[in-house]
Amino acid sequence: MKPKIPISAAIIGAGNRGKDVYGNYALKNPEEIKIVAVAEPDPIRLKIISQDHNIPLAYQFKTWEDFFKKPKLAETVIICTQDQMHTQPALKAIEQGYDVLLEKPMAVTPTDCVLLVESVKKNKSQLRIAHVLRYNNFFQTIYSFIKSGKLGDIITIDHRENVSYYHYAHSFVRGNWSQEKTSSPMILAKSCHDLDILYWLVAIQGGHPQKISSFGSLRHFHKGNAPPGAPERCTDGCPVMDSCKYYAPRIYISIIPLLHVVQKGGSGVPKLMVNLAVNYPSLFKRLKNIIPLFKKVEEYEGWPVNTITENFSFQGRWDALCSGPYGKCVYQTSNDVVDHQVTIIEFNNQTTATFTMHGFSYTEGRTIRIDGTKATLLGQALDYGNTIKIYDHLTGKEEFILRTKMDFEPESGHGGGDRLLIKSFIESIREKSPVEPLTSAQESLESHMMAFAAEESRKKNLVINLDEFKSRF
Ligand SMILES: NC(=O)c1ccc[n+]([C@@H]2O[C@H](COP(=O)([O-])OP(=O)(O)OC[C@H]3O[C@@H](n4cnc5c(N)ncnc54)[C@H](O)[C@@H]3O)[C@@H](O)[C@H]2O)c1
Repeated sequence: MKPKIPISAAIIGAGNRGKDVYGNYALKNPEEIKIVAVAEPDPIRLKIISQDHNIPLAYQFKTWEDFFKKPKLAETVIICTQDQMHTQPALKAIEQGYDVLLEKPMAVTPTDCVLLVESVKKNKSQLRIAHVLRYNNFFQTIYSFIKSGKLGDIITIDHRENVSYYHYAHSFVRGNWSQEKTSSPMILAKSCHDLDILYWLVAIQGGHPQKISSFGSLRHFHKGNAPPGAPERCTDGCPVMDSCKYYAPRIYISIIPLLHVVQKGGSGVPKLMVNLAVNYPSLFKRLKNIIPLFKKVEEYEGWPVNTITENFSFQGRWDALCSGPYGKCVYQTSNDVVDHQVTIIEFNNQTTATFTMHGFSYTEGRTIRIDGTKATLLGQALDYGNTIKIYDHLTGKEEFILRTKMDFEPESGHGGGDRLLIKSFIESIREKSPVEPLTSAQESLESHMMAFAAEESRKKNLVINLDEFKSRF
């Protein structure tokens, strides 16, 4: 068999997704994809990714604008800039004949989403949106089960996105998605994946979303809940550092590394280790030579530690917290996105669904219950494992159709969805596949419209008719 030639790709935005997810995939799978060019304004990130992939100087750019001034430099472009910087580079890429893998959300306004779909139709490029959940084992198993007919007609779905308290604080209070005006509303930024899953599952039986309403607010993370005497930064001697679970040094120095290293749910982190790491770093360092777990925790370089600094040492992390956004008191930042939201959907085949997002979970994960006319499905996709259990109504039989332990390889985040999405994208480019990709721009447009409509419902206190809503754009 002839060896396959890797596809060539340019990365636009070499941050967490660009450098660490797609870049690392390319490093581990050089026979599949080669990163030949990059656009990234941060000089440290630009240097690291260029060194890692041997990208020549002439193929390194500071911005996407500079990149697209050149004629086509690769077969594909992977766009991983922040939410509000998706449409323009994607339009440019499509116009120049690139096949595009675009991070979600595809755009932050309905008009821009429509613009992208029209541009793809005109230019006949591939535009795939990174709705990674559709590719993973958990949702693929649910999809196949519904398709098999064994569930019967879907009557109702309860789906929850339980964002862990530390992930919510990291991304949506202190981090990149904390303000709507600089990113996008929570239902789009975080939950467009979930609405996309609901759209996709109900469509198996021909159902399309018809009516949507949504409620939610920012209830907890505001100045009114700041503990008396708490400084604006955790690192400035906070009087409640021992009792506040959002105390930043503990989160970034021990809790998250420890949770990821031991791959176990819950926030019951051994207190001793946390105290040693935060308050007695030199003793911790000595212990790490004797206790392998301590060593693994100190050397952890994965998400979200890799978003706060490029210097992973304890000192490096501490310095980042003293000056950057991730060291701020969670009750005293400029966040404005909701911390809980519930959305109700009725489909045109009378299936109903509820979707709840909240940022107060003990562990990270999604849960789903689907009641059909023949069986009930209960699914849990948690940080430390997946289960899907079926209860057959006629026989009374209970059966696990999935029971796995998840691992934390960075390239297989989202339960393997990241890896499988990239793989599928690469294969379709290589095979010049005529098959519509699983997460095409057209499909994503439909589920993004659900998110825009839900947000309008929440803000205006209305039930939104989706056909009427879509006709406006
Ligand atoms: N598919 C998923 O499940 C998933 C998960 C996380 C994030 N995301 C999405 O991926 C996108 C990127 O997220 P991230 O966490 O990697 O963000 P990030 O901030 O780490 O990376 C974005 C990068 O874009 C760079 N950039 C800024 N201006 C630029 C310009 N003019 N030209 C080129 N690059 C520029 C920034 O310097 C930064 O390095 C976001 O839209 C986010 O919502 C998707």
